[in-house]
Amino acid sequence: MLLENGRYTIQGLSVEEIAKQFGTPLYVYDASKIITQIKTLRSAFTGVDLRIKYAAKALTNVNILRVMKQQGIGVDVVSVNEARLAMHAGFTSADIMFTPSCVDFEEIKEAVDLGFAINLDSLPALEKFGQTYGHSKPCAIRINPGVMAGGNYKISTGHIHSKFGISIQQLPQILEVVNKYNIHINGLHVHTGSEVVDVDVFLKVADILFQTALHFKALDFIDFGGGFKVAYKEGDKITDIAALGKAISNALQNFSKTYGKPLQAWIEPGKFLVSEAGVLLVKSTVVKETPNLTFIGVNSGLNHLIRPMMYDAYHDVSNVSNQLAATKQYNVVGYICETDTLAAERDLPEVREGDILAIHNAGAYGYSMASNYNARFKPAEVLVEDGKARLIRKQESLEDLLRGQIL
Ligand code: LLP
Repeated sequence: MLLENGRYTIQGLSVEEIAKQFGTPLYVYDASKIITQIKTLRSAFTGVDLRIKYAAKALTNVNILRVMKQQGIGVDVVSVNEARLAMHAGFTSADIMFTPSCVDFEEIKEAVDLGFAINLDSLPALEKFGQTYGHSKPCAIRINPGVMAGGNYKISTGHIHSKFGISIQQLPQILEVVNKYNIHINGLHVHTGSEVVDVDVFLKVADILFQTALHFKALDFIDFGGGFKVAYKEGDKITDIAALGKAISNALQNFSKTYGKPLQAWIEPGKFLVSEAGVLLVKSTVVKETPNLTFIGVNSGLNHLIRPMMYDAYHDVSNVSNQLAATKQYNVVGYICETDTLAAERDLPEVREGDILAIHNAGAYGYSMASNYNARFKPAEVLVEDGKARLIRKQESLEDLLRGQIL
């Protein structure tokens, strides 16, 4: 979203017009931003065989997945259902990495049958994999490196109290199971957390994987995960992608010499690809002055964007309808019967009833974490591609709320 002379645009289209045309609440995504981000990654990792696997959990609309497919990248999925959506968008099984967490082994078998790359995150899953497939199917192992990193505790996944991965301290047990069944381990994986700023953290974790890799003879790739931090507000520290790409590429090139063959570099960005590409457009339904605060009530809430409540996440807000007005301080709150503050104590150009507000960075973990709490419909989604805005998902209706209910 660009601001030019007080007017917000996406690919030259007026955001206010988009809101008028499609109604609010509305998720709007800019395909060109996604493509730019993919290009940034590609130019940062040089001299290695880079395989980008979009972490589909961030945003699973099939049209978004299709943009990814057209750019020639793959996907990382956490469920077979996500994979089925990806296949709907044109991905083949060879493009898909299945990285489940604590799923029933039946789902892993389904993923193997569908031909995905498999990434296992527990010793029992590895044991069952060995029992079922022996050496006949390859799999990767998700390592928990015991490193604390990430934007907040809830999105930190590589520390010693995290449920994710197999602890690096359990390497002897991993090797025992692998040797017992002669399992073909084709990759090692790590995802330390979301919103990891520090390139040194990625390097430290890469080093742990390299040391571990020496125990496995038939690796094809090292998967460094996702978690690259983008800006949520002006001045935010972000992951320096050029520095990260250079550092990881060099480290992997060097390690490949020791290992004896060039290993592919896999990465799994979610937020980096889609966070900034999306805005949630909402309408101000009430301007509510109290003796202490001025609230802007909007026709949305934690049911559409749970990140502020769940992680205390900061999302910028713009008044698309009145950008040039003098600012006042507001709390932007939702219509849900909870204290669903979307933005606290923000200076915004004066907000009037009916104004359209844009909530930024709504592309990642916005719609994909939306719910029907308070029997509210999930909003529509619009994709702006090649200078045109088009509906890619209808707003839900009462039938959606009743579907599956047995009267
Ligand atoms: N790979 C794996 C194995 C993951 O578990 C995740 C995210 C990613 C990649 C992508 O991480 P990203 O690049 O998007 O940071 N709902 C939270 C984020 C949870 C991330 C879960 N795993 C949020 O809204 O902040």
